[in-house]
Amino acid sequence: MHITIFSVLIATASCCVAGPLTDPDLLAKVQQRGTALEEVTKSPVIMHRVTAALCAEIPSPELVAEEKGNPHLDKFARLYVDKIGRPAAEGHEPVHPEGTVLIKEKLPAIAEIEKGPARPGTVPELFTGMLKREKGFNPECGDWEFFTVSGDAQKLTSRGKTASCVECHLQYSESDFTSRYFVPRRLMEAAADGSVLLHSRDAYVRGKKMRYEPQPNKNTLGFWTVKEDTALWYAKLAPGLYEVEVLQGCGKGSGGAEVLVDFGLGSSYGIEEHFIQQCKFTVEDTGHFQNFKPRVIGTLEVKKEAGEGGRGFNVKVIPQSKPGVAVMDLRQILLRPLKP
Ligand code: HEC
Repeated sequence: MHITIFSVLIATASCCVAGPLTDPDLLAKVQQRGTALEEVTKSPVIMHRVTAALCAEIPSPELVAEEKGNPHLDKFARLYVDKIGRPAAEGHEPVHPEGTVLIKEKLPAIAEIEKGPARPGTVPELFTGMLKREKGFNPECGDWEFFTVSGDAQKLTSRGKTASCVECHLQYSESDFTSRYFVPRRLMEAAADGSVLLHSRDAYVRGKKMRYEPQPNKNTLGFWTVKEDTALWYAKLAPGLYEVEVLQGCGKGSGGAEVLVDFGLGSSYGIEEHFIQQCKFTVEDTGHFQNFKPRVIGTLEVKKEAGEGGRGFNVKVIPQSKPGVAVMDLRQILLRPLKP
């Protein structure tokens, strides 16, 4: 009896992770962009020639000026993702779940030098995509399958573990072999009282397991079972002295993890920065992971507003140890201004 129920459950579970998408399925996904596949980017993102080549940094004003003289070098792109892949595509989860489809739509740049910067055309030139396949399909590169589709969305022009795609995307092994270039930017700003809230729903997570858990009773960074996983925020901070308060929970017997909170002046997205100040704390056992307790862990002195071009501070949470089953649940960090 029990065995029967068990096998029915297994059968049901495996039927939902259907086989790999067929060629027509993939084409249909491209055709459903904007409907079943939501846009991550909101509007076309410019891909400067040099930016795309280095896959780094927002370009310097000099570079923008130089490229304005030759706008044919630029392209635009939109990124689409299906529902299950959305949290990862927006930086709330570290790894895209099996079945995720990412589609990048490449648009030409229309050159109108006199009228300022190039603007995106509307007719796609080509689509490149990534499909998260079953475990073991492409272990070297996150089990991704790569594919390309013609600009009219009518023809699948390639699919597979395409060597050229894999070779270049291998450099993004820290972020599930995706570039993070299209992840929406969230810059945290001060409330009316000058405090800056770094909530778990706005964090960018990196690593293997730790993620934002949106369920109302959780509403926290959780699944922090891998010590190396880290969380990151971007924040705009006015000069002054701040008190740093974390809101943490930790299950019975799992307390004691040492955690660093680093405040850095970063210049680039996703690339490690030099850190300017640190706070350290030891996670307190609160009896339950969702039993949150506010704790002041130190102060932060901001000498001048960050950073170059007002791009903000990087606030990064880096566990140093994990004595229990998980580091902690972290709902938020609050930076509260102190009177001098
Ligand atoms: C020379 C390096 C390079 C090669 C080769 C390359 N990519 Fe990418 N890919 C990037 C960079 C850089 C980005 C982000 C910025 C951009 O789009 O220019 C990106 C972004 C993407 C994205 C959006 C998701 C993400 O990672 O941000 C998809 C989908 C994608 N590439 C698919 C492909 C496919 C399919 C191929 C092979 C046909 C391929 N790429 C080959 C560098 C590369």
